[in-house]
Amino acid sequence: QREYLLNGELVEWNGDVTEIYSPVCIKTENGLERKLLGSIPNISPKEAMDVLEASVKAYNNGLGEWPTMSVEGRIKCMQKFVYLMIKERDLIIKLLMWEIGKTLADSTKEFDRTVDYINQTIDALKDLDRESSRFQQAEGTIAQIRRAPLGVVLSMGPFNYPLNEIFTTLIPALIMGNTILFKLPKHGVLAHYPLLKAFKEAFPKGTVNTLYGKGSEIITPIMESGKVNVLAFIGSSKVANGLKKLHPKVNRLRAILSLDAKNAAIVTKNANLDIAVSEIILGALSFNGQRCTALKLIFVQKDVAEEFTQKLTAAVSALKPGLPWEKDVKITPLPEVNKPPYLQECINDAISKGAKVLNENGGFTEESFVFPAVVYPVNNDMKLYHEEQFGPVIPVVPFDDIEEPIDYQVNADHGMQVSIFSEDAQEVSQLIDPFVNLVSRVNINCQAQRGPDVFPFTGRKDSAEGTLSVFDALRSFSIRSLVAAKITDSNKE
Ligand code: G3H
Repeated sequence: QREYLLNGELVEWNGDVTEIYSPVCIKTENGLERKLLGSIPNISPKEAMDVLEASVKAYNNGLGEWPTMSVEGRIKCMQKFVYLMIKERDLIIKLLMWEIGKTLADSTKEFDRTVDYINQTIDALKDLDRESSRFQQAEGTIAQIRRAPLGVVLSMGPFNYPLNEIFTTLIPALIMGNTILFKLPKHGVLAHYPLLKAFKEAFPKGTVNTLYGKGSEIITPIMESGKVNVLAFIGSSKVANGLKKLHPKVNRLRAILSLDAKNAAIVTKNANLDIAVSEIILGALSFNGQRCTALKLIFVQKDVAEEFTQKLTAAVSALKPGLPWEKDVKITPLPEVNKPPYLQECINDAISKGAKVLNENGGFTEESFVFPAVVYPVNNDMKLYHEEQFGPVIPVVPFDDIEEPIDYQVNADHGMQVSIFSEDAQEVSQLIDPFVNLVSRVNINCQAQRGPDVFPFTGRKDSAEGTLSVFDALRSFSIRSLVAAKITDSNKE
């Protein structure tokens, strides 16, 4: 895979490459090793600037073919893209399994959810267009409010949902008439190769251009050029803030960001513990806990802590590890090579401060697997209380007073979601109010998650900037532009 998409052409790359390894290990002469899947271009800052210029030229200050195309025209292009994408379904699902270790069920879900998301976006744009074509009248003025694109969008996203999550920004940005500079993720990059041709065939020249390589080398000059109008970034707040600062006129940059999260679950003494355990397993360990929406810290009221941790430990021990395509597998290899030692460091830190791993094999690392660990009792001196582990470790914090988990959220730098487990309606309603003002989604007796995709997805503090959802994203990647006239006798009709 040595090509990148530049100005409507798939350009063959003969320079430096980065090898892409699977988290799935195979037998080699040296023992078990991560399988080499392919290599991708490591384009230099010079080529990166050519890619930027192609996006700038295609946008042409809003006068290019794509930003001036009718809504119907843009929808037709997007429908063609979906048609071409669906043809690659099997290959993309296979690549997701091999490249990021996502189970067959979850890889399939990721692909199908993405197709649904694009189709929903097309429908939402039709609604938005109907709304925009209405005239409004006030104080002797008649006006039509149009939605106009913003310019060049730099789209960057993470490995955990390389297709779905990245497309929740790239697709709405594209369909609103912006041109796209797409920096592919580090893992999950090969899964996009079958789509390069689809982008090329479905959209006018230069509408989507791709970037591969070391972010620090190629993204820095792109941001410093001041030619990026929108930063659509999903990752850490540290990187997002660094990127924003590089822009010479940051007030002209719109940022749509989905960032840090350490979502808490609160299990009160009035919870149905079986429901709490099964939802927390889903919330904390789906895709090995590598989700921004994962439950990453579990508060349990002391009265039920023993029973809860026993049930949780039994449920975790029953999860089957294996390769992504194997039946009923829930725990799969981790793509990030530095993740197992980092998780071990967090667990060791907790143990050195008095916690235990409750389940046998918890935290045990073999090849690129880390067996999920239930760590208890965790307190606020430990790394696991504060850091976003983004992996299969479940820290459990015992508490007496319900003010304790509220204090945690008040003092945290993030505010994405919380899950409250209680069967006492009064207790639940007393907890909803403070949390509605602290996080952007309060889940009752269920895990945390982003979907359904028509619901707004955002966060407070360092968790997000802007709002995504099928409808919100169309607004986030466009601006209102008013066409107004005085009402006169001749235009009254
Ligand atoms: O990593 C963050 C993803 O947006 C999570 O999405 O809640 O649908 O798994 P999800």
